[in-house]
Amino acid sequence: MNSASPLIVIRQLRKTFVLGRSTVHALAGVDLDIPVGSFTVLMGPSGSGKSTLLYLIGGLDRLTSGSIHVNGQALETMDENALALYRRRTVGFIFQSFNLVSSMTALENIAFPMRFSGQNGAARRKRAMELLRQIGLEKRSHHRPTELSGGQQQRVAIARALVNDPPLILADEPTGNLDTSSGYAIMQLLSELHRSGRTVVVVTHDPRMTRFATHTLYLLDGHIVSEAEYEAASKFEIPSEVSPA
Ligand SMILES: Nc1ncnc2c1ncn2[C@@H]1O[C@H](COP(=O)(O)OP(=O)(O)O)[C@@H](O)[C@H]1O
Ligand SMILES: [Mg+2]
Repeated sequence: MNSASPLIVIRQLRKTFVLGRSTVHALAGVDLDIPVGSFTVLMGPSGSGKSTLLYLIGGLDRLTSGSIHVNGQALETMDENALALYRRRTVGFIFQSFNLVSSMTALENIAFPMRFSGQNGAARRKRAMELLRQIGLEKRSHHRPTELSGGQQQRVAIARALVNDPPLILADEPTGNLDTSSGYAIMQLLSELHRSGRTVVVVTHDPRMTRFATHTLYLLDGHIVSEAEYEAASKFEIPSEVSPA
């Protein structure tokens, strides 16, 4: 595959949620290509469909209509087993709220996705330790999530996402629960993953994150829009810091 070819091809993607009598078109016909080896930042206000889009790309949810090809495979044609395999081999997913297992140590959390890998316990611990070192937390291997700062928990979550060496990293507002400097460190870590050859897609509503991006996409009300349309619309948006809760 050459560097210009897309890893992800999305056509006429729709996701509709029906809750009682109300219908939400979270994605209302999205077309986009994500090049292999890119660092794509997906911007959009709250409710614009960012998480929905990322979950569908990550095989965590099913689309309503349209298509998503990743590495030439159509996700919508996969059965549950194929989709589970796709999630395990192809995707590393990072959540805003870290989603670590609170009863497990940092090391155990990182090793957890290797449970179906066929490697024995010692090999899994060795791999998890190696990743702990890479994220600078080798001294925290036996700490549980509550004994780690938010930034440290997110680094553990990133290590966990890397443990099966996936080519695609998806991060949903990975800095949303962090202070500015921890958030910056997380973006630098994601940027290193990109430089080491992975394709990275990060969802955010923080415009400062676009400095890391090779490509920036804008989402408004379930549609991909141009930067100019996005800028025009954000002039009317009340910044979340000053809006009433
Ligand atoms: N599981 C769900 N059930 C019903 N509505 C949902 C669900 N997930 C998301 N939505 C709705 O879809 C829209 C897009 O949501 P989401 O993708 O979470 O936006 P964002 O991540 O950009 O804030 C919102 O209107 C949201 O309320
Ligand atoms: Mg979201």
